[in-house]
Amino acid sequence: MKKNIVLLGSTGSVGQNACKVLTFHQDRFAVKTVAANINYKMLFHQASQLHAPQAVIAHEAFAERAKAEAPSGIKVESGNEAIIDCVCADDTDIVICAILGNGALMPVLKALECGKTVALASKEVMLMAGRLIMDTAKKYGGRIIPVDSEHSAIFQCLAAHPRQDVKSLVLTCSGGPFRKYNAQQLQAAVVADALKHPVWSMGRKITIDSASLMNKALEVVEAEFLFEVPEKNIKVVIHPEGIIHSLVEFKDNSMVGLFSNPSMELPVQYALSYPDVFDSEVEPLDLAKISSLHFENVDNELFPSIDIAREALRTGKNMPLVMNAANDVAVKNFLEGRIKFTEIWDIVKICMERTPAAELNSIDEICAADSEVRMFAGEIIKSL
Ligand SMILES: NC(=O)c1ccc[n+]([C@@H]2O[C@H](COP(=O)([O-])OP(=O)(O)OC[C@H]3O[C@@H](n4cnc5c(N)ncnc54)[C@H](OP(=O)(O)O)[C@@H]3O)[C@@H](O)[C@H]2O)c1
Repeated sequence: MKKNIVLLGSTGSVGQNACKVLTFHQDRFAVKTVAANINYKMLFHQASQLHAPQAVIAHEAFAERAKAEAPSGIKVESGNEAIIDCVCADDTDIVICAILGNGALMPVLKALECGKTVALASKEVMLMAGRLIMDTAKKYGGRIIPVDSEHSAIFQCLAAHPRQDVKSLVLTCSGGPFRKYNAQQLQAAVVADALKHPVWSMGRKITIDSASLMNKALEVVEAEFLFEVPEKNIKVVIHPEGIIHSLVEFKDNSMVGLFSNPSMELPVQYALSYPDVFDSEVEPLDLAKISSLHFENVDNELFPSIDIAREALRTGKNMPLVMNAANDVAVKNFLEGRIKFTEIWDIVKICMERTPAAELNSIDEICAADSEVRMFAGEIIKSL
């Protein structure tokens, strides 16, 4: 029987990869709903292509126009409540969440409260509410299958092994466009340079995060919550070719890694096929043609992101949320030309230093804390 899919953030970079996978496997999956924030034209095109009967536009300001232009046969809903209704519907089997930013939190939380399987690309969710998300999944029998390529790799490498045999998780990292930059070059880095990722084609926010290595820092936090491995046992290594997507080191000092050509189609597909493996359209690896793979340590002085993440995890409580929200605001301002590249780190550090560590005990407290940090980061930027 086909599995029913709700695809959130379908018009983005991960979302479009998910559409390719779902088109290729139309015999296995029925897409019930596609959802995006504002881009209703692409959303309708996707809904038609995937034979999805429903499309949801989250941003209410675009709802009227979207409803007026809806093609026949596609029911259009709008707003966050409509997204949650689709996610929690009885016949939803898997929710793919590829929403950028804090809008991902409520749909993921509600999906898990309804005991659904969530194919999770939106790492912000784990930064904002990692503990709550994991506890909710356990409490209601929901399941999270990671879509971030590194976490998907680790999920697959861990598969058959008892957790006590695991020594460390090793996240690989391309190093981004500034891997060879010195301090002076980083000071002068502009948006166009930061958007030139050497391996992956992704959305603008995550591409900037890859240049600052903040993406890897967010992934260290995501990994600690997802796999319940402490940060001291999560390593990061630069691997410029992007062929090994991450590894697990075992207590006998052997390692298992996941190799493939870089493509987000594979982690999306595995989250949908788990525990099976399906055929894919991804080009097979020709190891002899690749011929050599390289590894380097991160320069943590030049790129402080991973140390910032470790600090956030050691402090715990609200600090991963603070780090994420401050970075979000800083990246937006960098993209809009208001701050320098290196100021992204300054803003995150200032927000973390000046926000008192506090336990966040409910979703309301989490949302309020997120807004406060965003406001504070905005004020710091104005004062620069
Ligand atoms: N890109 C990658 O290769 C990659 C890899 C691993 C993990 N991730 C993670 O996946 C997430 C998405 O990244 P991306 O690069 O795909 O982002 P993106 O290209 O900017 O796309 C973001 C998507 O989210 C939608 N969206 C934004 N706010 C929404 C809301 N409130 N409700 C519903 N939809 C909303 C956007 O709709 P509109 O188009 O209408 O604005 C768009 O479809 C991020 O958390 C990122 O860290 C990305």
